[in-house]
Amino acid sequence: MSSILSHTQFFLFLLSLCICNISLASSALSDDGGFSRWVSWNVENYHRETWLNAVSTARAPGIPGKKLVDWKLWKADMNKVRKTVSQDGTGDYRTISEALNSIPVFNTRRVILVIKPGVYREKINVPRNVPFVTFLGDSTSPPTITGNDTASVTGRGGTPLKTFQSATVAVDANYFIAVNIKFENTAPHEVGSIGEQAVALRISGTKAAFYNCSFIGNQDTLYDHKGLHYFNNCFIQGSVDFIFGYGRSLYENCYLNSVAKKVASLTAQKRTNASLASGFSFKNSTITGSGLIYLGRAWGDYSRVIFSYTFMDRVVVPQGWSDWGDPKRDARIYYGEYKCSGPGANTTGRVSWARMLTDEEAKPFLGTYYIEGDTWLLSP
Ligand SMILES: *[C@@H]1O[C@H](CO)[C@@H](O)[C@H](O)[C@H]1NC(C)=O
Ligand SMILES: *[C@@H]1O[C@H](CO)[C@@H](O)[C@H](O)[C@H]1NC(C)=O
Ligand SMILES: *[C@@H]1O[C@H](CO)[C@@H](O)[C@H](O)[C@H]1NC(C)=O
Ligand SMILES: *[C@@H]1O[C@H](CO)[C@@H](O)[C@H](O)[C@H]1NC(C)=O
Ligand SMILES: *[C@@H]1O[C@H](CO)[C@@H](O)[C@H](O)[C@H]1NC(C)=O
Repeated sequence: MSSILSHTQFFLFLLSLCICNISLASSALSDDGGFSRWVSWNVENYHRETWLNAVSTARAPGIPGKKLVDWKLWKADMNKVRKTVSQDGTGDYRTISEALNSIPVFNTRRVILVIKPGVYREKINVPRNVPFVTFLGDSTSPPTITGNDTASVTGRGGTPLKTFQSATVAVDANYFIAVNIKFENTAPHEVGSIGEQAVALRISGTKAAFYNCSFIGNQDTLYDHKGLHYFNNCFIQGSVDFIFGYGRSLYENCYLNSVAKKVASLTAQKRTNASLASGFSFKNSTITGSGLIYLGRAWGDYSRVIFSYTFMDRVVVPQGWSDWGDPKRDARIYYGEYKCSGPGANTTGRVSWARMLTDEEAKPFLGTYYIEGDTWLLSP
């Protein structure tokens, strides 16, 4: 009996830690009501689940079923370690790759790599079996991770890299976080030439968050490949399809900068079927820059992109959206706008299949709940 009690007490303690920690994160990150929604949701769950269930969820996090929180993540965060990367030799490692290589595979602890200011010319891959990695830069002097590979560059195997392998930084792991980091691909881009896709960052792991980051490139800058992703206060620059993939992502307070020379597209969202829970939601962001851009062009038949509370400068073409020359997509695509402003948000010239969302329609896209963030977003 006494041993069961101590077990329960331990879990009460654990849970209180988690609630305390999460509430900080969610009150800092989500808007009005987000926190109280999360609390009531969590209290409901608390009543529904037995302690035993909570114990088994914590011990075997892979078990499907309702979860109070993401226990795997909480365990990793409670055992977190910090390592420093500094090019001048004053840290634990001189390069980011070296630091990553030091992390054991199937890592269970959160590893925060504090990356000192500097330009890191490294091609980086965070492999699938190295989860819970955080890149933490200095907000006043963010480190730059740079490269210039393109889809047509020949790789080690003697064949072209293709878009997927062109990334300066590729993240295949889950639970990746980056704060105050500049991801860059400096490959030049000529209008009309082929094979110039040049990715700065590819994120293929789920439950990834980016705060205060910059993504600098031309064609295909940010490969929002797949998974649940959160971007806050980020600067994203490019020309052709500069945010693309089939991630389920929320972009808040972001600055989207077109460097298009002629006409390009801000997004190419690849939702290929109606059952795929994927789509990009941009909230409270700014679209500006040069050339002319579509808000999105449909890479998949069911492409889904929403802009809300976003300022759109003149760079946005009056039509707004493109079906990539395939009119049968018009009825399947979900391209929505809600409470946007600026000259580019004028809906007079919009394609007929663009959706001006009602409050009800917009709601699912407007908070971190869109990416189930209340269970996994940590405060930066
Ligand atoms: C890419 O960068 C390397 C290293 O700075 C440089 O030698 C090379 O010329 C660049 N390639 C292109 C196509 O700009
Ligand atoms: C993000 O950048 C702002 C300045 O734009 C800074 O005040 C804030 O501390 C940064 N956030 C983090 C988590 O470093
Ligand atoms: C909207 O974004 C701007 C610019 O990033 C930020 O200063 C402001 O606090 C945001 N507003 C809300 C309600 O999040
Ligand atoms: C929908 O697309 C995803 C991703 O390409 C795929 O894994 C899934 O099998 C597809 N589902 C159907 C019903 O076609
Ligand atoms: C929207 O664009 C149309 C056509 O160019 C123009 O007549 C109208 O005044 C614009 N509306 C606003 C609010 O700027």
